[in-house]
Amino acid sequence: MKALYVIVVACILLSCKKDEPSLQATFLDLPEHPANYFGFVGINNNLPELGKVLFYDKSLSVNNSVSCGSCHKQVYGFADNTALSHGFDNQLTARNSMPIQNLNFGLAVDVNNGITLVPSSQKLFWDGREHDLNIMVLRPILNHIEMGISDTEELAKKLKSIPYYKPLFKKAFDSDEITAQKISEALAWFLRSITSRNTKLDKSFFGSGAQLSALELNGKRLFVEKYNCNSCHRVEDPNGYAFIGGGFSNIGLNEIYTDEGLAKVTHNSNDVGKFKIPSLRNVALTAPYMHDGRFETLDEVIDHYSNSIASHPNLDLRLRNANGQVRRMDISESEKNAIIAFLNTLTDFQVVTDPKFASPFKTK
Ligand code: HEC
Ligand code: HEC
Repeated sequence: MKALYVIVVACILLSCKKDEPSLQATFLDLPEHPANYFGFVGINNNLPELGKVLFYDKSLSVNNSVSCGSCHKQVYGFADNTALSHGFDNQLTARNSMPIQNLNFGLAVDVNNGITLVPSSQKLFWDGREHDLNIMVLRPILNHIEMGISDTEELAKKLKSIPYYKPLFKKAFDSDEITAQKISEALAWFLRSITSRNTKLDKSFFGSGAQLSALELNGKRLFVEKYNCNSCHRVEDPNGYAFIGGGFSNIGLNEIYTDEGLAKVTHNSNDVGKFKIPSLRNVALTAPYMHDGRFETLDEVIDHYSNSIASHPNLDLRLRNANGQVRRMDISESEKNAIIAFLNTLTDFQVVTDPKFASPFKTK
């Protein structure tokens, strides 16, 4: 049975001009879901569902112009396709938007009590400045470039004035009271539900038929053995599907860093130019690349490792020779093609098209 919630969002919420005839009515399309639809046994679907509405709702920005989904677009692996993203006032973010997937590290399943949250060492943002997903999710809303709401009270007050939220909070929390804490909880559950484990490489691990081609296998060998990319971007993780990066590293993008990365958080000069080692899951979809979006293509990224690594006192040892000099990999064109073919096996076409993670706001 599909129940359709049709809520026409008032003109004011869309901040349209009074006499503009082209107003399109927006409505929320929230069909009923089978139990555990979002993948959490024992967690009520309505919690991630509310999170999804919040994620895609432009009302979470001060002038109703951007939502989380404006900078984290499903088709691009929940990253953005521009180097820097536009915030609510059209100002640019300081860094490249990051993909969102497999942020479910802090979950433990307890047979008696269902799912519980456990402390996790996961570090969020390019400089790792946040680790608690529940706290993190409010940051962009309150950020003066991203969404511009002045404080959590203003946020709760704003949502209380929007008719569709009370019933959604009631379903998710058994009470229609709207608080910042509940907003962050629901958002965090939606983010955690975005799991990806359907790439060609995953399938080759789990023996469900997909085999890498000769070219892809050669690329994998170059990635794992010859060029040791895997020492940072681990693709042979014991969890298989996680492909987590890990830690922070200076890869010699600059001789002088204007954005100091990890050092901004630690105030340690040894951390200047270190940024989070990203997971390469869906990397074929998340261009442009690096914390500042400087490279348009994977080709350019590989050229960087091949022959453009800058000498920096903090350059990672894994990118130096035994004598400490910058390592020149001199990756050939055919090797580059093989590595790129391998990186393409990290694309999960399911997560980027799954209606479960798509905007529930539809226009008539
Ligand atoms: C204006 C664009 C913009 C908006 C709106 C936005 N983000 Fe982001 N997001 C970014 C950028 C840029 C980064 C990287 C920031 C940094 O490292 O300093 C980021 C990073 C993140 C990360 C960290 C991922 C990781 O692996 O470390 C998460 C999670 C995230 N955003 C969730 C959200 C949520 C939830 C919302 C809505 C409440 C949101 N974002 C709204 C641009 C945006
Ligand atoms: C010493 C650790 C290290 C090694 C070795 C390494 N990388 Fe990276 N890689 C990083 C870090 C850190 C970043 C992000 C840097 C930044 O934005 O400042 C990155 C970024 C990338 C990106 C862009 C990802 C994105 O979302 O923007 C790609 C693609 C990539 N690396 C591929 C490779 C390949 C291919 C190799 C082997 C030739 C390799 N890396 C070797 C640490 C490493």
